[in-house]
This record gives sequence, C-alpha cells and structure tokens, in this order.
Amino acid sequence: MIESLDAIAGVGRDPGTGGYRRHVWGDADMLLREWFASEATARGMDLVEDGNGNQLAWWGSGPDALLLGSHLDSVPDGGAYDGPLGIVSSFAAVDRLSAEGFEPSRPIAVASFADEEGARFGIACAGSQLTTGALVPARALAQKDRDGVTMAEAMAARGRDPRAVGRTSWLADVGAFVELHVEQGRSLVHSGAPVGVASAIWPHGRWRLDFCGEANHAGATRMEDRRDPMPAYATTVLAARRLAIETGARATFGRIEVEPGGTNAIPSRVSAWLDARAGDEKDLSRLVTDLVTEARAAAAADGTALHLVTESVSPAVRFDGPLRDRIAATLDAPVLATGAGHDAGVLSAQVPTAMLFVRNPTGVSHSPEEHAEDDDCAAGVTALTEVVRDLA
Ligand code: GLV
Ligand code: MN
Ligand code: MN
Repeated sequence: MIESLDAIAGVGRDPGTGGYRRHVWGDADMLLREWFASEATARGMDLVEDGNGNQLAWWGSGPDALLLGSHLDSVPDGGAYDGPLGIVSSFAAVDRLSAEGFEPSRPIAVASFADEEGARFGIACAGSQLTTGALVPARALAQKDRDGVTMAEAMAARGRDPRAVGRTSWLADVGAFVELHVEQGRSLVHSGAPVGVASAIWPHGRWRLDFCGEANHAGATRMEDRRDPMPAYATTVLAARRLAIETGARATFGRIEVEPGGTNAIPSRVSAWLDARAGDEKDLSRLVTDLVTEARAAAAADGTALHLVTESVSPAVRFDGPLRDRIAATLDAPVLATGAGHDAGVLSAQVPTAMLFVRNPTGVSHSPEEHAEDDDCAAGVTALTEVVRDLA
C-alpha cells in the first residue's frame, strides 16, 4: 500500500467491519481535510477550499492547469482505495516529478472533491456537480441526512458558509483533468495489465420510492384488512432484478427505511433507494419507467400508494477521445468502460477529462474487501507520472 494510504488507514474505519464511514462534514471527513491540507503544505502547494468544500492543492497558478485527484469520502463501510488511491497517487506523482527537477509547462493541481459518494445527503458527486453548475445549490443545501440535518446545517456546523455553495471560478483555469481510480470490476485482471484507461461511464441514477400504507397491530389486524406497504416493496425488488437481467442493466436496492420499524407493527411507510444503471440512457429510463409502473400497480393492489423522488441522475459519459488515445498510447494500456460513477464524469462535460484505472484483483468495491496490490498501486503512480510529464 502506498505510504500515505497507511497514514489515513485509521481515519473513519469501523473497528467491527473494517470498512470506512467517511461521510461529508462528519468527524472523519474533517480529519481527512486536515490531512489533505498538511500534504499540500508539506509540498509547498497552495491550498484552496472552494465554497462547495472541494479542496485543491496548487503547484503553480493560472490558466490551462492540469488537474489531478479524486475524493476521500466513502460509502457506508467502503474500502480503502475508492477515492483515496487517486489522491495519494497524485501527490506521489507530484513528488516524483519535483524530485527530478521537472518544471511543468502549466499549473498542476490536486483536487479532493467533496461528497463524491453522496452517502450522507443522497446526491452523487455533489461537490463536483455544484462546481460545474450541474447541481442547483438550493436543492443540494436542502437535502437531509438520516438524522434530518440539512446539508446547509451540516456545513454551517463546520464553519462553512452555505451561501458560498455553487459554481466556482477555479474551474475556468482547468485545461484538463485526469482522475486515477481503483478499478471496480475485473477487466484489467482479464487483460493482464496493471493500469487501464477509461472510455466511458454508464448513465446511472438514484431514485427514492416511498411506499405508504397504514400502521396497525401485527396480531390484531386481519391480513385482508391491512394496508401494508411492505409486500409492494418486495414485489418491486423482484421486478427490478427481472427487468435488469432482461435488459442487461443493473438495479440495486441497497438502502431501506421502515417506519415505525417495530417487529409487531405493520409498517406505515417503506422508503427504498433504487440505484439503476444501464448501457445507454434510453435503456435506463425505460427500466425505471417500467419498474415504477409495476411498483405503482403492486402498491394500488394493496390499498397503498407509491411516491417517487428522483434524487440524482448522471448522463452517459464518453471521455475525451484525443486525450484518451494519447494516454493509452503513452502508457500502452488497455481502454475500458465502467458502470461506476466518478467526479471525472461530471467534469468531462466542461473540461477534457480522462481516467486511469488500477487493477483490482477481485473486482470487489464499495466493501471493506476492496483491494489493489502494492505493485499495481506503484504502477498506477508511474503511469500517472508519465501522463503528467506528457501533458505538462
Ligand atoms: C460511485 O462510486 C458510484 O458509482 O456510485
Ligand atoms: Mn465509489
Ligand atoms: Mn470513487
């Protein structure tokens, strides 16, 4: 493991599961912000935190900068590499180049994007989406976490000004972005290469389905008399699996909340979060439409109701062709698509963007089991260094 990953290995780690719980504006996130700031300072880089909580460490300043970096936050019980590998590799590439006396022809910056996973407030890539303007500040700021705390309140509690949230001027100074990330899949295992280059990201989104019924006594209420929202939810999970298999898409319910949550009470509400992804936008929208139609029918049949909330939708991404080809040729690396979302996908709408993936022997991610071998991490740093040398 790269040394700096060891330095933050204990931050936000649940001792029971070994997974990370690094959620935006939480205690672990604040420690990681301090760590990032000290890494910047140790290298003499200028530290900036923008109004969205994104941190940037600048080597030089001015227009046409080459941006590197990734994110430090995690999903609940995430792995050590998803996000942090990109940041420590970026700092390591900067170290190698400066040790060689390399003088970049353009400014270089390392970014730590806030809230990439959206684990706390539900919106994926919130920090980068606010920066590009893809996400409207008022909508982000009103999002609530599981305890009912809004993003605005969480920021204010950490001394940040919610009025500063929104498009940022630094983006105009970025000429290209390269994000290194652990692979979330096994394409590189199959191609036998430690490092690959991204071609595309599948369109994906998150929807909340609130199945609403009526709470009542589990023993005293006849089965015929119930308005129980749980069976419609269960039907919807099975339908999601069927529809996704039929269309070659992905559909996941990874989070649910049941109200009031008593073993001996019929629920009044089941809220379920759907994560759906597909090879193209038409397939994704058809999957969600068909699923919601089935869910509504199942809810109506039980005298219950379904309310749908779209939490975030990310369009298909095709990374910049010339940049992708140049990097693939420089590194002689395979090119692969991914079903995972990234800040690079968000920035690609405004800036030529590329991604490097580092081999993951099991392909497992969003889990404490996520892993990359030290040699492959080192190959990632070497690859990123070569990319920076070529582009800067
Ligand atoms: C981010 O990792 C995502 O794909 O949800
Ligand atoms: Mn992730
Ligand atoms: Mn990630």
